[in-house]
Amino acid sequence: MPSQNNMSKSAKKETYEMLLKQIDSIIVPEIPDSGNICNILGLLKSELNHFWAGIYIKNGNTLGLGPFQGLPACTVIQWGRGVCGTAASKGETIIVDDVSEFPGYIACHAETASEIVVPGFNNGEVTFVLDVDSAEKAAFDKIDQVYLEQVAAILSRFIK
Ligand code: SME
Repeated sequence: MPSQNNMSKSAKKETYEMLLKQIDSIIVPEIPDSGNICNILGLLKSELNHFWAGIYIKNGNTLGLGPFQGLPACTVIQWGRGVCGTAASKGETIIVDDVSEFPGYIACHAETASEIVVPGFNNGEVTFVLDVDSAEKAAFDKIDQVYLEQVAAILSRFIK
């Protein structure tokens, strides 16, 4: 499988288009929301060959670890701290090409080199963030942002 950096823009778009179709077909209403979220994150991580993919859910002035795919991760993140807390407090997607250069970066895994965090909304309020980590530097760009914001919108259906 090509790494993120070696994937052409058109190949990346095709992969995401296929991912959205797969997500659509894998969602079933009969199972707990956590099962649907884990399946969506599992597809995302495996189809794009990422190191880690998960969500942190708003709980007062913190973000708590929710469903994820990958190694065990940091459990509680303060609102406004790290990439996740900053994306949550701003309500904006953040792309970090080199995590060692992000002020206040929270290092859960030594393997992570770059990261994208996308806020998810319910009724106009940030209720969670989608965090995707890569073992390669500068793995994420505007294409990832556009598609991962769509994935976050789908995930928001399961996070109330
Ligand atoms: N690096 C994140 C913390 C979450 S882990 O990457 C899974 C941050 O700085 O918010």
